[in-house]
Amino acid sequence: MDTAEQKRAAAAAALEWVRPQLRSGVVIGVGTGSTADHFIDLLAASGAAFAGAVASSSRSAERLSRLGVKVFDLNEAGELPIYVDGADEIDPALRMTKGGGGALTREKIVAAASRSFVCIADASKRVAALGAFPLPVEVIPMAREHVVRRLRTLAATEALGEPTFVVRSTAGVPLVTDNGNAIIDVHGWRIADPCRIEARIGGIVGVVESGLFALRAADLLLLAGADGVERVTAAT
Ligand code: 5RP
Repeated sequence: MDTAEQKRAAAAAALEWVRPQLRSGVVIGVGTGSTADHFIDLLAASGAAFAGAVASSSRSAERLSRLGVKVFDLNEAGELPIYVDGADEIDPALRMTKGGGGALTREKIVAAASRSFVCIADASKRVAALGAFPLPVEVIPMAREHVVRRLRTLAATEALGEPTFVVRSTAGVPLVTDNGNAIIDVHGWRIADPCRIEARIGGIVGVVESGLFALRAADLLLLAGADGVERVTAAT
């Protein structure tokens, strides 16, 4: 299977995993990205009699609605039984870097509100240690340069290396997230202790969220490779 086929296979495995829970009245959480798109398509086509979904982005909400899945506000839906989403990197403890699609804050909120997080990924996402993928940090726009200075200090005091900081933009126009904020992508640092670094970044005034998902890691990884889909739980 090539990468695109792996993404679809992981999404199909997630649907099979979730299907026994898809009953009347049940609302599930759905993530963002090309792998999550496959899950949305398969979920919508499944014919399962569930109530609907909470989406982690306006993009996923639009796709769900277009395909006939009712979209709920998280405040109406309450705690969710399960959240299905992709990742940019995932390590053996199922800690992740996310936010390549810019939806990290809502992804972290929906994950936090869900009893179980199922990560769906192609084989390229599995890493021994997080850090090669640039870490997205969503910031309140007026705090952008303040946050960059604090992140530089954090990298020095925690011996993370000498990162570089890129404000995410398209054709020179800064990206604006679904929450009206900016994203700084942090390149080139070593994230030796993801839980500690997630907490330290979260403590910087002006940071909304980082794309480190270590304090709330995935519960299950459905990892598609050339030969099929593997169910992976956290290594202890
Ligand atoms: C979006 C995300 C995605 O889960 C992540 O970027 C993986 O995307 P894809 O499934 O397209 O490889 O965190 O913010």
